[in-house]
Amino acid sequence: MSTAAPVKLGVLISGEGTNLQAMIDAVARGELCADLRVVIANRAEAGGLRRAERARIPCEVISHRDFTTREDFDRALVRALQSHEVELVACAGFMRLLSPVMLRAFPNRILNIHPALCPAFPGVDAVRQALAYGARFTGCTVFFVTEGVDDGPVIIQAVVPILPEDDEASLAARIHAEEHRIYPYAIRLYQEGRLEVRGRKVLIRDYPPAASVALINPRP
Ligand code: GRF
Repeated sequence: MSTAAPVKLGVLISGEGTNLQAMIDAVARGELCADLRVVIANRAEAGGLRRAERARIPCEVISHRDFTTREDFDRALVRALQSHEVELVACAGFMRLLSPVMLRAFPNRILNIHPALCPAFPGVDAVRQALAYGARFTGCTVFFVTEGVDDGPVIIQAVVPILPEDDEASLAARIHAEEHRIYPYAIRLYQEGRLEVRGRKVLIRDYPPAASVALINPRP
C-alpha cells in the first residue's frame, strides 16, 4: 500500500453501480487507498445509490432533467463535487457526456470506463457492437475523460475473448468482471502518483513487468 494520502474520490453513476461496489470493496480490502467522499447519480432510481448508502458514503441525486443545458447540469455537478472536496472523479456507468465545464474544473482528473478496447466500439451498446462485428477479442478500458466520446488517454485495458457460444449477456458479464479488477487498480495508480498524461498517452511510473505473449483466439 502506498504512503501517499488517500485520494478523495467522487463517483458519478446512473445505474447499478457494480463498478462503484468494486471500488468500495477494494477500499475495504485495503487494496485501494481512497476516501469515497460522495456518490452522485443523475437518476433517483440508480441502484448504485443503495450500495453507497450501505457503505455510508454521502449521496446526492442531481437530475439532468432539472437543467436546460449540459453546462448548467455540469455546473451543479462541479459545485457538489467541490463541496465534498473531491479531487478525482470516477464515472462509473454515468450515462451523460461531460462538457468543458466539468473538464476544466477537474483537468486530467476525471476517469471513465468503457466496455470495449478503445478506440474500438465507442458509445452505447459496445458489447453488442463487438458481437455484431464478429471480433474475436473485446474487453474494457479505463481512460481519462476528454471532450470526445470514449477517446481519452488510456490508462489500462483488459482483453476478453469472445467465445462462439457468447450472447450479449454472457459476454457483458465477463467484461464486467474485468472492469471490477481494472477500475480500482487504475484509481490506485492515480493515488500512488504514478500517472502522467502526456498528450494522448498516459505514462505509468514503475511500470510492472508486462507480459509480451500474444493472445490468439481461436488458439492454434
Ligand atoms: C459498465 O459496463 C461500464 O463499462 C459502462 O457502464 C457500465 C456500468 O456498470 N460505462 P455498473 O453500473 O458499474 O454496474
